[in-house]
Amino acid sequence: MKSTSALCLALAGLSHAYPNILEHLEQAGAGSAKVKRQTPLSTPPFDAASQYVDTTGSHAFQAPGPTDQRGPCPGLNALANHGYLPHNGIGTITQFIESTGKVFGMGVDLSTILAVYGAAVDGDGLKWSIGGPDSRVGLSDLLGKPQGISGSHNKYEGDGSPTRCDLYQCGNAVDLNMELFQELYDLGKAEDDYDLQLLTDRRFARTEQCKDENPYCFFAPFAGVIAQPAAWSFIYRFMSNKSEEFPSGKLNGEVLKSFYGVTGEDGNFQYNRGHERIPDNWYTRNIIDAYTVPYLNLDTNAMLLQHLEFASVGGNTGTTNSFVGLDPSDLTGGVFNAATLAEGNNLMCYGLQLALQQTPDLLSGVLAGITNSLGCPALTKIQDDQFDQFPGYTESYNGYTPPKDGIL
Ligand code: HEM
Ligand SMILES: *[C@@H]1O[C@H](CO)[C@@H](O)[C@H](O)[C@H]1NC(C)=O
Repeated sequence: MKSTSALCLALAGLSHAYPNILEHLEQAGAGSAKVKRQTPLSTPPFDAASQYVDTTGSHAFQAPGPTDQRGPCPGLNALANHGYLPHNGIGTITQFIESTGKVFGMGVDLSTILAVYGAAVDGDGLKWSIGGPDSRVGLSDLLGKPQGISGSHNKYEGDGSPTRCDLYQCGNAVDLNMELFQELYDLGKAEDDYDLQLLTDRRFARTEQCKDENPYCFFAPFAGVIAQPAAWSFIYRFMSNKSEEFPSGKLNGEVLKSFYGVTGEDGNFQYNRGHERIPDNWYTRNIIDAYTVPYLNLDTNAMLLQHLEFASVGGNTGTTNSFVGLDPSDLTGGVFNAATLAEGNNLMCYGLQLALQQTPDLLSGVLAGITNSLGCPALTKIQDDQFDQFPGYTESYNGYTPPKDGIL
């Protein structure tokens, strides 16, 4: 059969890639209790020499060419533009883990989840495109032709994003929408400061906007519980400039513009597609203050405690303002419940366990190592027929059918 050889190739590739990933995980302490114990430092140290990020020489900004992939993630686009990821925008799991750690201080536990999930749902099990489908990414026996993260609506890319429009509203959830960027920019421009509270408020406004304006509004398990919330906190946690004065970071409008590929003066901004740029003279997180899964979990919980709506997996049922949030308990046969979702690592566990149900067995082993280290309760089955009531999950839009392939 046509698929057998592709599967063999994928397996051969995996056996090469996995020892590597497992090594990374071990260094990060996954699989032991270490990840669980590591808590964020309220005042991290600042060390200019080690936190400076090189934007010169082989790491100078180089705009993407016509065959280079760029997509919905400004962080990954910037890494590719500066040669921290391959300039063509196609990377291996290991390359994603290494570059996000080096340039942004992402914890290995978190980057492993994001990279392995990307390889599983948008790639060939080994490597994937940060933009659309690409023949340089192999075929995946599990999913057919990998779509890259640009083609991953509801699997990775979701509604209510900071600067990307909802797919079913604009037909484009990949490029920056200038109206949304300008609105975000306006919120912080008086103080020239974009902090977590501002982002929490804006996330809530975008969530409500989805329900109010998009009949197809849908918050999927992984995209809605992990990827979208993470994207909001990444803006401050990763893009902010660290310094002696602001060791946890301060994000101003110019740095925000640079990371979003925006130039020009307020009111007359231009978006240069795929030109996301690491600012010169920019300082990243201290290496001992990596942004790990427990750290993201704390940020996500803090947001959730302000707006319980953030926990909702669910969607509109075909008209605006018809949002039905699924009860975590119904979805998981009682393993998770709404009352305790903001406790401990429950929210991360919930998103990860839902994703695991839909992830090919080959890759779920790596993710299972992480859910174990977080102490997540076991989940063996989800009641996913409940998604059938949401057209944002089931229906096509202008000829675009959300890719399902057994994966949300
Ligand atoms: C392997 C690591 C990563 C993966 C797989 C990944 C993937 C994605 C995906 C699929 C989206 C679209 C989600 C949505 O629809 O809202 C996204 C958005 C985003 N990502 Fe990443 N990302 C990674 C690392 C990073 C890093 C290091 C940064 C650092 C700045 C970052 C910043 C963002 C931001 C700010 C958004 C929201 C874009 C917007 O709508 O304005 N990501 N990412
Ligand atoms: C980051 O902060 C340092 C210290 O205040 C400053 O010298 C540098 O210019 C800032 N970088 C950016 C890109 O704003």
